Amino acid sequence: MGMLFSLVSVLILAAIAYIGVSLNLQGLFGVAVPYLAVLVFIAGFILKVVKWGKAPVPFHIPTTCGQQKTLPWIRHSKLDNPSTTLGVIGRMALEVFLFRSLFRNLKTEINDGKVSYGSNKWLWLGGLAFHVSFFVVLIRHLRFFSEPVPLWVNTIGAVDGFMQVGVPHMLMTGVVLLVAGGYLLLRRMFNQQVKYISLPADYFPLFLILGIALSGILMRYFIKVDIVKVKELTMGLASMNAKVPDGIGAIFFIHLFLISVLFVYFPFSKLMHLGGIFLSPTRNLPNNSRAVRHVNPWNPEVKLHTYDEYEDEFRELMKEEGIPVEKE
Ligand code: HEM
Repeated sequence: MGMLFSLVSVLILAAIAYIGVSLNLQGLFGVAVPYLAVLVFIAGFILKVVKWGKAPVPFHIPTTCGQQKTLPWIRHSKLDNPSTTLGVIGRMALEVFLFRSLFRNLKTEINDGKVSYGSNKWLWLGGLAFHVSFFVVLIRHLRFFSEPVPLWVNTIGAVDGFMQVGVPHMLMTGVVLLVAGGYLLLRRMFNQQVKYISLPADYFPLFLILGIALSGILMRYFIKVDIVKVKELTMGLASMNAKVPDGIGAIFFIHLFLISVLFVYFPFSKLMHLGGIFLSPTRNLPNNSRAVRHVNPWNPEVKLHTYDEYEDEFRELMKEEGIPVEKE
């Protein structure tokens, strides 16, 4: 149900862009909506990160998987149980760039009434391929927003198209994005355990990103658009002086509208794990609770009345009663 709802939502979004272009609303779909989307994305992202950044961290709760730093002759697991900020950065980098915890994820099954754990690397591979290809596609798109195009952007494009299949050359990461995204979707649809816990919020971004990749691929290889005119528009967008040239095909506006929706949706969705991972206390705290005192910011302020203060207050009375005092 959630799956169908999400699929239909994305199809309706694509139809809205198509109908909009048929009604000559290119200005709305080519300029106004993308600008608004970028604004919502930036403001939403910043507000979320600031909100999370300001949240108190009452407990010291790093996730640990190995030996804590202890006596010198017990080997410390520096990566799995980091005790310093450098260790945290190392573990975080491996997580962000290689999805290390997903690599170590196991499949739990019941065989002959007993729980058994098996290797499960496909999710890791599919997830990593999806994210890396998305990132490379995004970087490659900078060629639409810069003139002259920086050498490194062109180089990435050239490496991506090195197989030189077809005209224009097939760009590998675009295809990998579609295939890996398709795998992540099929896994949700056919793996019963995953299907059971999947919500529209899981299906919708997948369909949306697949829609973006599919419309991009259609536009590059099959339903061609006038790329010179596209560049005129995108350079206008980048220089805050946008106007839409005539004759760009509807498929481009579908691509752009789906991207705009993704941008608006991003800060309010699970996709914020992009920013959230760095603010997650289980990941960004070193495990040094034996060495450094962690103060709970929620602790109420305790009003202390020290013995010194007590004696200052009652010294004369104490002396009258013959009670010994520390200071005369
Ligand atoms: C979330 C961001 C985006 C994603 C994931 C995405 C994805 C893709 C993919 C997979 C392709 C197929 C070819 C390739 O692999 O490069 C493509 C092509 C294309 N995209 Fe995007 N895109 C995004 C943003 C944009 C934006 C912001 C624009 C312009 C305003 C744009 C304009 C185009 C054009 C014109 C093509 C055809 C390229 C060609 O003919 O060489 N895309 N996109």
